[in-house]
Amino acid sequence: MKATAVAPSNIAFIKYWGKKDEKLRLPANGSISVNLSGLKTITTVEFSDKYKIDDILINGEKRGKEVGRVMKQLDRIKKIAKIHFKTKVISQNNFPMASGLASSASGFAALTVAATKAVGLNLSEKELTILARLGSGSACRSIPDGFVEWEEGKSHESSYARSIFPSNYWDLSIIVALVESRDKKTSSTDGHKLAETSLFFKTRLKNIDNKITTIKRLIGEKKFKEFGQLVEGEALEMHSVMLTCSPSLIYWQPTTIELMKLTQQLRKEGFPVYFTIDAGPHLFLICEKKNTSAIINKLKKIRAVKKIIINQPDEGTNLINQHLF
Ligand code: PMV
Repeated sequence: MKATAVAPSNIAFIKYWGKKDEKLRLPANGSISVNLSGLKTITTVEFSDKYKIDDILINGEKRGKEVGRVMKQLDRIKKIAKIHFKTKVISQNNFPMASGLASSASGFAALTVAATKAVGLNLSEKELTILARLGSGSACRSIPDGFVEWEEGKSHESSYARSIFPSNYWDLSIIVALVESRDKKTSSTDGHKLAETSLFFKTRLKNIDNKITTIKRLIGEKKFKEFGQLVEGEALEMHSVMLTCSPSLIYWQPTTIELMKLTQQLRKEGFPVYFTIDAGPHLFLICEKKNTSAIINKLKKIRAVKKIIINQPDEGTNLINQHLF
């Protein structure tokens, strides 16, 4: 009863911000994302009567703040499988732990796929995304292949993720520029709760289905410039909601703004590149793959960029035979 899964992180082009059901993690709106090849979590899970206690090791830490959420997810899975064994879990990211990059999407996708396999449940991809969503909303988008839509849904069963284009559909690069931050970050779980306090939130929701339809068309037609403009505007719109909620959420650092301006400058110089930002200070620069090295060379000149991680669209979550223990 042991299984191992590898899951990619994902970045949303149309974001999920705000929930209509806290407990079920039903999002206020649908979202569209792509899986990231350079940001992965590998997780091995074993259920056995040889274990007398649960033993959870996440990135080498036994008492990390994620352990409680992991235990809850394991309990959900044990309940479905009707088993009572204790569990051993080892989970590792291939990206620096202290980087402040969110690992909950890849983390809960890998955990859900490995744990359900380890207990002998053979769930469909759709069912896996529904279950992963309960651990972390955006985790549902890390399970299907490539470019993914999370259908908002009105109930637990109808809020799930599915692939809309395979990972090899469009040769894009998503370059993560890691920005140093000493601030204590408001977690996305806490941030979602504040969304409704922004006057802009209702306006955002009115237009979001329109944006989802448009972005799917633009990916389908591979219209990079219009796609990039929509993605960048969407990130700024989400951050406008964050900035105007009460208390205000300011996820940016001075370097974040410097990089936004660099992106604009690069466009003036003739490089088609656009940014998106999640609930953190890091910039995700999106370009066509052929322009990757030119953009990296520009980024390397910015001293405050701690690290650069290059990603291509990637497959979803897969089971593998190499276990971590
Ligand atoms: O799934 P969570 O609770 O980590 O929320 C993710 C929120 C954003 O990353 C800001 C946007 C998104 O759609 O991924």
